[in-house]
Amino acid sequence: METKTAELSIEDFCARGYGLAQLDRSPIEVAHAIPGDRVKVEVNRRSRRVKKGRLLELLSPSSDRVSPRCAHASMCGGCCWQSMNYDAQTAHKQAYILRAFGDLIDANIEILPMISCAEPWNYRNKMEFSFSQNRAGMKYLGLMIAHAEPYVFNLDSCHIAPPWMSECLSRVRAWWEQSGVMAYYPPQDSGSLRYLTLREAVRSGQKMAILNISGQAEFAIPEEQVQRFNEAVGSGIGVFLRTHQICKGVPTRFVERHLSGPEFIVEKMHLTHGDLEFKISPASFFQPHTIQAEKLYDAAVSMLDGERLVYDLYCGTGTLGMAASRSVLEVIGIEMNPEAVKDAEENARRNHLSNIRFVQGDAGAVMTRLLSQSDCARPDAVIVDPPRAGLDSLTLHHLQTLRPKKIIYVSCNPVTQADNIRKLVGSGYAIQRLQAVDQFPHTAHIENIALLTRVN
Ligand SMILES: C[S@@+](CC[C@H](N)C(=O)[O-])C[C@H]1O[C@@H](n2cnc3c(N)ncnc32)[C@H](O)[C@@H]1O
Repeated sequence: METKTAELSIEDFCARGYGLAQLDRSPIEVAHAIPGDRVKVEVNRRSRRVKKGRLLELLSPSSDRVSPRCAHASMCGGCCWQSMNYDAQTAHKQAYILRAFGDLIDANIEILPMISCAEPWNYRNKMEFSFSQNRAGMKYLGLMIAHAEPYVFNLDSCHIAPPWMSECLSRVRAWWEQSGVMAYYPPQDSGSLRYLTLREAVRSGQKMAILNISGQAEFAIPEEQVQRFNEAVGSGIGVFLRTHQICKGVPTRFVERHLSGPEFIVEKMHLTHGDLEFKISPASFFQPHTIQAEKLYDAAVSMLDGERLVYDLYCGTGTLGMAASRSVLEVIGIEMNPEAVKDAEENARRNHLSNIRFVQGDAGAVMTRLLSQSDCARPDAVIVDPPRAGLDSLTLHHLQTLRPKKIIYVSCNPVTQADNIRKLVGSGYAIQRLQAVDQFPHTAHIENIALLTRVN
């Protein structure tokens, strides 16, 4: 590889949280560098698109630098902001949101201070660790190496996850070392082990481990090794095998097998309008930081005002809709994942909530169906919490034509959120309030709530 070295000033960061500088008038990303750093990097001369610089030396540190807590900090692609003090992290995130909203920001918008984390360590209730193997057969189980994805390093401990996850990971690695089972290799659809998902309900302490494997029959794991994996995970943890059935041209199918322990975990949330309990199945989405999710939901619900009917689009296991149901007359949750909908229905019963129901399906398609029924009541508020890609065009179209009085837009991607909101503003909405909530300390990720009201 032909390389050169360069000295750079880090001015900003990219969406993944890597430091961003300019080299020969084009952007260059430098993992583990933060704004304000002056660094020496090694650059691959041949790299074409966005250049990547390997940090060789910190020439002069940013005034926001602190010592990272993690032994893997110089390699891990996970939480690249560990070397920035937490106040600077939240300031950068707030500035990022304002930049994403750009010309949409005006003096009439109430921009509330970010809700930051009281305890920014050991917070994640879900982690995914990848299996990887090189040509020599060396085995790696952990997280991706920054600037070198999909290469994986062997992770010993992770300070944003609870300690039991690192301990469980090392037991699973010890099993793998002697198992003879191969890591999955995507380019050839060969091998077995894809990734290990560990989940926890932080309020109850219940735990879950899911081994994600290939569905290719020739790489099926011998039953004896499945049982050894199960033993390696440890007692008291719900253990699952999740097979990914990949077939060209057809959406991937997942088949789950419960091996031992509890079949689900139950999380409790302490919310302003009372506690709620949520059953979470292996495949169901749940916000990754339970304590901050409580604050997120409280902030979103505080934007409601006794509405008659609220739609909760992309509702997952129904968490946000159930939090909202105590402040309004009726809620309809819409969610694509059938497992999450089953959980949502059970969760409503568990919490004795009779004013919320769920419809399974694609948000846009379900709205088309609901709104075509002549006796269908129109919602006066719609909550949306889509994946990072934002609203699809059909859902956006329905919002623009349905025109509820209020839209509460929750997002983990301020760029797609601002983009969608720009279109809604063009259809007669005004942004009333922005409220960011930090669910992801030491990473560049941020959750943001926007309250929109219909103005004409
Ligand atoms: C960011 S999560 C939000 C979940 C929920 N609001 C919460 O706080 O737990 C996004 C959810 O959207 C669902 N989803 C993704 N695409 C969808 C679609 N086209 N229609 C309906 N739901 C979808 C996912 O399954 C996931 O549960």
